[in-house]
Amino acid sequence: MDLENLKSNISTNIIANDLFLFPEVSSTNEVIDKLFNDKYIGDGTVVISDHQTKGRGRYDRKWISPSGLNLYMSLLFKPDIEPSKFPIFTFLSSCALKDTFSLYNLSSSIKWPNDVLIGGKKISGVLTELKYSDKYEVNYLIVGIGVNINLTRQHIIKEMSDISEKVTSMSIELNNDVNRELFTAELINKLDEYYSKFLNYGSSVILDDWLTKWDSIGKSIKVNVDGKLYEGIVKDVDENGFLYLITEGYKTVKVISGDMIF
Ligand code: BTN
Repeated sequence: MDLENLKSNISTNIIANDLFLFPEVSSTNEVIDKLFNDKYIGDGTVVISDHQTKGRGRYDRKWISPSGLNLYMSLLFKPDIEPSKFPIFTFLSSCALKDTFSLYNLSSSIKWPNDVLIGGKKISGVLTELKYSDKYEVNYLIVGIGVNINLTRQHIIKEMSDISEKVTSMSIELNNDVNRELFTAELINKLDEYYSKFLNYGSSVILDDWLTKWDSIGKSIKVNVDGKLYEGIVKDVDENGFLYLITEGYKTVKVISGDMIF
């Protein structure tokens, strides 16, 4: 990725005032964490890499990160927010992703809690981690975003044989390679818009945006929680990211963490 090209397309207030680009890292989430603890980087700092050797997803799953094809990016936030409400940053990121895909006429759907899909297939993922620094006595958040931009069908088949049918990329959907610098800058600009909204109006406004985009209240869904399947009608999602389902017998079940089946 070309840093100058990327920077020339970024216009933000807070996000990416500091921007680090590396050719190869273990995981951008790990690198930004280390940067913060070594030299106290500011709110909204961004780390991007062309390649990750240890890209990871939720539940420590591997995040396939081949060189030069996709986006691997982490952002650092130090918001004034109750630690339990940190999932709002996953929602904020999903809103920004969905808006950015729509700039390419790609209609995407949100999957609770952290995915954005195109045509029912996974194209991006968000890994938000809440941390505490003893050194600075502060809570901080690391938001890692992975987007399959120019990942080819061959890569998907080779590296993700078991789930290859459920994964896609922008270039597969568009039948065209996408300019990674431009897409990344557009996503950063959108993240900045939502972050400014959060700073000005609070997390409830972000949750409302996310709920509108998610469009699943009142709909029937299935969720896998540690191997146990829950099926029910969506009643709500709160600012902690918890999902409330009305299951058989009109019982309300609160799901703290799980995977929506798609
Ligand atoms: C998921 O869907 O489980 C979340 C995937 C998050 C992947 C991104 S890629 C950039 C950042 N660095 C990582 O190691 N993971 C996140």
